[in-house]
Amino acid sequence: MNEIKIFCPATIANLNCGFDILGLCLDVIGDEMIIRKSSNKGIKITKIEGANLPIETKKNVAGVAGLALIENLDLDFGFEIEIYKNIKAGSGIGSSSASAAGAVYGINELLDRPFTKIELVYFAMKGEVIASGSEHADNVAPCLLGGFTLIRGYNPLDIVEIKSPNSLYAIVLHPHIEIKTADARAVIQPMIPLQSAITQTGNLGGLIAGLYTNDYDLIGRSLTDVIVEPFRKHLIPHFDDVKNSALQNGALGSGISGAGPSIFALCKGKEKAKKVANAMKKSFLSTNIKFDIHVSQINSEGTKTIMN
Ligand code: HSE
Repeated sequence: MNEIKIFCPATIANLNCGFDILGLCLDVIGDEMIIRKSSNKGIKITKIEGANLPIETKKNVAGVAGLALIENLDLDFGFEIEIYKNIKAGSGIGSSSASAAGAVYGINELLDRPFTKIELVYFAMKGEVIASGSEHADNVAPCLLGGFTLIRGYNPLDIVEIKSPNSLYAIVLHPHIEIKTADARAVIQPMIPLQSAITQTGNLGGLIAGLYTNDYDLIGRSLTDVIVEPFRKHLIPHFDDVKNSALQNGALGSGISGAGPSIFALCKGKEKAKKVANAMKKSFLSTNIKFDIHVSQINSEGTKTIMN
C-alpha cells in the first residue's frame, strides 16, 4: 500500500470531571487526510484545505507527530501529507489532535502497523505540544481509539479504554469564536484546594462507574467540574445560559468541551439529544455569534481508513 485516505474524528476532552485525562470520540464531524509514501525521506505537507495552518513540517502538528513516529525507524523513504480540515482550530473539539492522530495513524498503516493504536498516542501527543504548549492526550487518545478513554497516567503513558452505554449521545454547540488552548490554560489555577480535589475525584470515579454500569443517573450526577469550569466559563459568551437550557431540557450533564469555546451536553437517546440541541441553539441565538451544532453518537472506531 502506497497511499491511504483517512477520517480523523472530532473529540470532547475533559468531560467536566476529567481535566486532561478523559475524552470521547464523536462520529459526525472530522477531518480527512491523504498520506502517501514518497521517495524523499522525512515528511512533507503538500496541501492544506479548510484552514490557514503552517505548511512547514516542523510547525505543523501533523508534521511534528509524523516525524516523532518515524525518527527512530531506519526508513529510506518518506511521506507526503494532504490535510482537509473540517474541524476549526481553537474550537474545543480536538482540531489539532485530529491532525496529529491522522498523521500517525496513516503513516503506521503505510508501514504495515509497527505500532498499536495505543502506542500511537505517544507520537500524536508530540504534535499537540506545538498547538497548545502542553503534552496532553485527552483528545488524541479518543481520536485514535474511539469511545471514551482515560489517561490513567502520563509518566509512563497509561491509557484505558472505557466502555460506555449504547444510547449515549453527545451534543456540541460550537460558537464561531476562537479560543487558543494555551490562553484557556493560562486562566486556570496551578494549585487546587483539597476540598475541590475530593469533589472532582469523587465525580470522576462516579462517571467511570456510571459508564461501565449503564447508570445514566450516576453519569449525570458526576458530570460536574469544580476545578476548571469556574475559571474558563467567562471566556464563552452565554455559557451558563446554554448549559442551564441543556440541563432543564433533560441533558444528563453539560460543560465546556476541551478548552472551549464549544459547549457539550450528554443525553440518553437520540430524541432527547435533539430536544436538548434545540434548547441550546435557542439559548445561544441571542448572542448573534454564528455557531454550528452537532448531535452525535459515541464513535467507537476512532481514526479509520476510508480508502486505500
Ligand atoms: N485538556 C485540555 C484542556 C484539552 O482543557 O486544556 C484541550 O485540548
